[in-house]
Amino acid sequence: MIDDAPIKPSFSLISPDIYNYQDSKNQPLKLGIMASGNGSNFEVIAQAIAEGKINAKIQVLIYNNPDAKAAARAEKWGVEAILLNHRDCKNRKKFDSKVAQTLQQYDVEFVIMAGWMRLVTQVLIDAFPNRMINIHPSLLPSFKGVQAVEQAIAAKVKITGCSVHLVSLEVDSGEILIQAAVPVLPDDTSETLHARIQVQEHRILPMAISLLSQR
Ligand code: GRF
Repeated sequence: MIDDAPIKPSFSLISPDIYNYQDSKNQPLKLGIMASGNGSNFEVIAQAIAEGKINAKIQVLIYNNPDAKAAARAEKWGVEAILLNHRDCKNRKKFDSKVAQTLQQYDVEFVIMAGWMRLVTQVLIDAFPNRMINIHPSLLPSFKGVQAVEQAIAAKVKITGCSVHLVSLEVDSGEILIQAAVPVLPDDTSETLHARIQVQEHRILPMAISLLSQR
């Protein structure tokens, strides 16, 4: 019997140096969220904060595609949305330096990549060392990079899932914080499977942020 519930996390699953980053307990964790597209993960974070499930405040949303639906979601939640179009930058480092500066201007303590479809450089990692997490639609370390759901279907695995992990220079390779398993059904398409993976993403990403916000 396959259980698609997330593996229940405990504090011991999160390295001490990740959550011991601020002395002031009980202060809302100041989040910067980065998104490239639909923004459903942004939405569940905003919802969880509004419901008092996460002690945090979203300082800013950064998005890199002018038509990203995440921007309208931010507006709905009263969160400032800043478009930083990577096409306007000469190279990845220049772009990341703009991103880092913007996050710092908004006094961001912790960065959430919620569907950020850009490779990051050391410039951004150095600005927020151990302070950036990403949600990826596979059970890492399997199926890193783009089209993780398609990769899982092509590999004919019976179980895939999603992972919240720290961001490191090598794509989808930082320390894994929380994962949830999702069965692959015989008639799954990438759309049907991704939809069920997203149900789990919407559980484990707020769960990870909640744990981090408790420091
Ligand atoms: C998610 O499936 C996430 O794992 C991947 O991009 C997707 C973003 O979804 N990195 P959304 O924009 O939050 O709806």
